[in-house]
Amino acid sequence: MQKYSRIISTGSYLPQKILTNKDLENMVDTSHEWIIERTGIESRHIASECESSVDMAYNASLIAMKNAGLNSNDIDMIVVATTTPERKFPSTAVLLQNRLKNNSAFAFDLNAACTGFIYALDVADTYIKNEVVNNVLVVGTEKITSLLDWSDRNTCVLFGDGAGAALLSSSEIPGIISNTIGSDGTYKDLLTVNTDREVIEMSGNDVFKIAVNTMGKLASETLAKNNMTVESIDWLIPHQANSRIINAVARKINLPEEKIIMTVKTHGNTSAASIPLALDHANSNNLIKKNDIIMFEAFGAGFTWGSTLLKY
Ligand code: COA
Repeated sequence: MQKYSRIISTGSYLPQKILTNKDLENMVDTSHEWIIERTGIESRHIASECESSVDMAYNASLIAMKNAGLNSNDIDMIVVATTTPERKFPSTAVLLQNRLKNNSAFAFDLNAACTGFIYALDVADTYIKNEVVNNVLVVGTEKITSLLDWSDRNTCVLFGDGAGAALLSSSEIPGIISNTIGSDGTYKDLLTVNTDREVIEMSGNDVFKIAVNTMGKLASETLAKNNMTVESIDWLIPHQANSRIINAVARKINLPEEKIIMTVKTHGNTSAASIPLALDHANSNNLIKKNDIIMFEAFGAGFTWGSTLLKY
C-alpha cells in the first residue's frame, strides 16, 4: 500500500517582546505609514538576548507533540529549517532532540533561507513515502533579528523572530499531494548575509519583482502539475515577507484574498518559521477543516523557492 505523509498537528512560539513600527520610528528614519504601506507589517516579535532558535523550536515542538498526543520517542526523524542556528554545530535539530529527551530519532538542519520549511517538508515526505520513518517533527525556527543591522532602514523594519512546528505521520491516505522545490544561485548577492559583516544585505526592489514572478509561476505550475484549478484551493499559506508580494501573487493566479492566511502584519518576515507559524495560527483559529486543500508557497535567498500541495 502506497504511503503518504499527513500533517497531524502543529505548534508555534513567538517571543514575548513586540517591536512596533512606532518603536522603529525612534531607531531609524522611517514611519509607521511607510512600513504599513510598503510591507503590511505593523509589529514583529523579537527574541531576547538569552533566547535561541533552539529555545523557540523547543516551545513550538512541545505544543505540536501535545496536540498530536505523541511522546518524544514516538518521533523517528527531526528536521529543522533555520538560517540562525544556536551553534555552528551540533545542529539545531540535535540540540532540540536533546531538549526533547528523544533518543529514537536522527536529526539534522537544513538551510534554504525563507524556503527552508518547504524543503524540510519535502525531505520529510520523501523519508515517509519510502517507509524509512513514521513520525517526523519538522520545525522552522529563526532568530533572524540577530542578523539585522538596526541602523539600516531598508532591512531592519522587515523581520521578526519565532518558530513553528508540524508533526508529519505516515498514512495510507494523502496527505501531501506534491512538493516542488527549486533554486538559482545566479541571484546569490541580491539577498545575503556575508560572513565578514554578518548582517542581512538586500536589494529590496529586485527581490520584490523576482519573488512575485517566481511565486506566481510556481503556484500556476503546481496546480497544472496536479490537474487542479485555482478553485480547488481552500487556503494559500504563503511565506510571509510582505503583504504586497502575497497579494500580487494571489492576483496573478486569480485567488480571492479571503483564501489567504496572512500573518505578516503581526509577525513580520520570520524566514523559515513563517509558514509553520501561519499554519499554526490558522489551525489555532479553527480556520482549516479536515480535507481542505492547502497550498504552501515560499521564496527566499539563493534564490530558493518551493511549494507544497496537501489535503489536510
Ligand atoms: N522607511 C522609509 N523609507 C524607506 C525605508 C523605510 N524603512 N526603507 C527604504 N526607504 C526608502 C528608500 O531609501 C528609497 O528612498 P529614495 O527614493 O530616496 O532612495 C524609497 O524608500 C524607495 O525605496 P525602494 O527600495 O524602491 O522601496 P520599495 O517600494 O521597493 O519598498 C521594500 C522597499 C524593501 C519594502 C520592498 O522592496 C520589498 O518588500 N522587497 C522585498 C523584500 C523581501 O521580502 N525580502 C525577503 C524575501 S524572502
